[in-house]
Amino acid sequence: MNLAVFASGGGSNFQAIADAIFSGELPASLALCVASRPDAGVIERANRLSIPVHVLSGSQDDWLPQLLTQLSERNVDFIALAGFMKMIPSSLVAVFRHRIINIHPALLPDFGGKGMYGMNVHRAVIASGTKKTGATVHLVDEQYDTGPIVMQASVDVLPDDTAESLAARVLDVEHRLYPSALKSFAENRVNIDGSIVSIL
Ligand code: GRF
Repeated sequence: MNLAVFASGGGSNFQAIADAIFSGELPASLALCVASRPDAGVIERANRLSIPVHVLSGSQDDWLPQLLTQLSERNVDFIALAGFMKMIPSSLVAVFRHRIINIHPALLPDFGGKGMYGMNVHRAVIASGTKKTGATVHLVDEQYDTGPIVMQASVDVLPDDTAESLAARVLDVEHRLYPSALKSFAENRVNIDGSIVSIL
């Protein structure tokens, strides 16, 4: 697996993936880090690890062809979105069909969709009164958070949780779940049948 990780923020999931690759736990190469903004914290993490970085700029008409060239020149065959705040254009979904995954900080299909990102998710979880939340890895399709679910891990919502305390516990779980989901793809143990994904 020749992986590109797309991120817009601090990049703790990028770091967890890189750590899993460098420790030998995840059989993949980290070919490229794609950042949607020049001030994304993930860029510094990638620089520290000497992973090539590509920063998107301009309108989609400008950045999409440049991105496709980068992915092709670096022989990227799999994409992991990790806190990437741009919609993936349908033409990119088509080129990488079933080879783009995302991690979402809740148990989809609940608490997903437009506007459900960052602390908004954890605030909505707490306001709903649910006692369980968690993280979901799913395949990326043309809409937000609707693609087939690959793996989930749950986290208890505690009576005195704030959005921040809950986010921190969910993020901790994400750092284990995401490399584990990627490992299943890297080892060809993922079977996709319509909306049903099975891990062999
Ligand atoms: C994570 O909570 C992830 O689930 C969501 O965005 C956040 C990214 O965090 N999609 P980080 O940049 O990996 O620290």
